[in-house]
Amino acid sequence: MLHQITVILILITITTTVTSKSTIEPCSTTDTCTSLLGYTLYTDLKVSELASLFQIDPYNLLAINSIDMTSSPDVTSHILPSQLYVKIPVICSCVDGIRKAVNTHYKTRPSDTLSGIADSVYGGLVSSDQIREVNDVEEGGVLDVGMDLKVPLPCTCFNGTDNNLPAVYLSYVVRDVDTLAGIAARYNTTVTDVMTVNSLGNAAIEDGDILAVPLSACASNFPKYASDNGLSVPNGGYAITAGHCVECSCTPGSRLYCQPASLSVSCSSMQCKGSNLMLGNVTVQQSSAGCNVTSCGYGGFVNGTIITTLSSSLQPRCPGPQQVPPLTPPPTVVSPELGFAPAPSPFQLGGAPIGGLPGSVVPSTSSGIAFPPSANGPSGSVSGACTLANPLSTFSLAMALVLFVKVMIPFL
Ligand SMILES: *[C@@H]1O[C@H](CO)[C@@H](O)[C@H](O)[C@H]1NC(C)=O
Ligand SMILES: *[C@@H]1O[C@H](CO)[C@@H](O)[C@H](O)[C@H]1NC(C)=O
Ligand SMILES: *[C@@H]1O[C@H](CO)[C@@H](O)[C@H](O)[C@H]1NC(C)=O
Ligand SMILES: *[C@@H]1O[C@H](CO)[C@@H](O)[C@H](O)[C@H]1NC(C)=O
Ligand SMILES: *[C@@H]1O[C@H](CO)[C@@H](O)[C@H](O)[C@H]1NC(C)=O
Repeated sequence: MLHQITVILILITITTTVTSKSTIEPCSTTDTCTSLLGYTLYTDLKVSELASLFQIDPYNLLAINSIDMTSSPDVTSHILPSQLYVKIPVICSCVDGIRKAVNTHYKTRPSDTLSGIADSVYGGLVSSDQIREVNDVEEGGVLDVGMDLKVPLPCTCFNGTDNNLPAVYLSYVVRDVDTLAGIAARYNTTVTDVMTVNSLGNAAIEDGDILAVPLSACASNFPKYASDNGLSVPNGGYAITAGHCVECSCTPGSRLYCQPASLSVSCSSMQCKGSNLMLGNVTVQQSSAGCNVTSCGYGGFVNGTIITTLSSSLQPRCPGPQQVPPLTPPPTVVSPELGFAPAPSPFQLGGAPIGGLPGSVVPSTSSGIAFPPSANGPSGSVSGACTLANPLSTFSLAMALVLFVKVMIPFL
């Protein structure tokens, strides 16, 4: 927890009537991590449109939300319904000493306003003042059609860990119906943990605040020179890597499990050298000494080559079949039960898959037992409150008790 407490900034802006808070992670390195944004669709959007709104890979978007990528030949043109809540994977960088996702740009359209872009299009993940600041747009200035606006988005890495276990952080925009207990339960964490991560002095949260919520994850240990070095997959989801050839998931035992992704792309060999096993295959052989488990695992994407690693171990008992997270078809409706239950009971943790559609499709390589996705969010509308604004000055407080940063917004 130390790094989360020592690394604290407080942003203060002058002139204010409304305050929203957002957790800021100071940083000094050039490394990046994958971080997630909790986002509610403001309108019906094709998968490809949603992906281009954030400039991310559509298949990665589907994968992280455990949506079946092979359910139709052109799943990227599937229309996702307005108000659907999804997780958006973004690259979290270190910019000017703060963790931020900076790859997103927005092209203005007729009758766009900064507050419309901030509050509606990007669901309160950014404020109009932040957009104004990074783009040097004058206050009250008119937006030309076709402007290319940078959209800075909140993210945290916290070293890819939470309580020394692998974690991926989700930036969550609080709505007025939310409670800390509800959020913690929804993401299978605890109120204490969320409070510690965000350095909250008390459990009061408000509409428009942005919290960093740790999601337990499975970390990889690919070599430094692998292009997907540092891959970490949140529990219940998938990541797609190696040029869309490999999909990795986090199994219930928190083990990273990778297998071929059945998208129609051409891929380098996925056979483990010196065996007839393919990536993801596991064989078990009962012997008097125990169970000989041989598996063909994934070791990263190096120079366009899929690295496979064959490993054998003698285990006291034979493991069951690989359990991978269930995949759901692309949602077409927003399920009402994914609504605002303030604090689901432990057994509702994870809830229904996104969109609440039944009938999971498990990849053919597994005979997996269904495993609930770790986190599904609300389906309701996003608050219109905007958040971080124009940091006119920043202070680093060594001992700060508040990671949860108070920021003030001019006129609102
Ligand atoms: C980050 O994590 C690594 C291991 O994953 C650990 O060695 C290192 O000390 C951590 N750094 C911080 C600042 O917590
Ligand atoms: C090995 O993996 C391939 C590709 O995922 C799969 O088609 C095949 O059925 C698996 N074979 C065994 C023996 O598990
Ligand atoms: C386990 O099986 C593999 C392949 O079947 C074999 O190469 C290896 O020597 C075996 N290991 C043990 C400890 O029996
Ligand atoms: C990748 O390929 C280039 C050119 O073939 C080579 O110089 C480099 O050493 C390779 N890198 C790795 C990590 O194998
Ligand atoms: C929730 O977290 C606990 C421990 O933190 C873990 O044992 C359990 O498997 C998790 N449940 C889900 C659905 O991820």
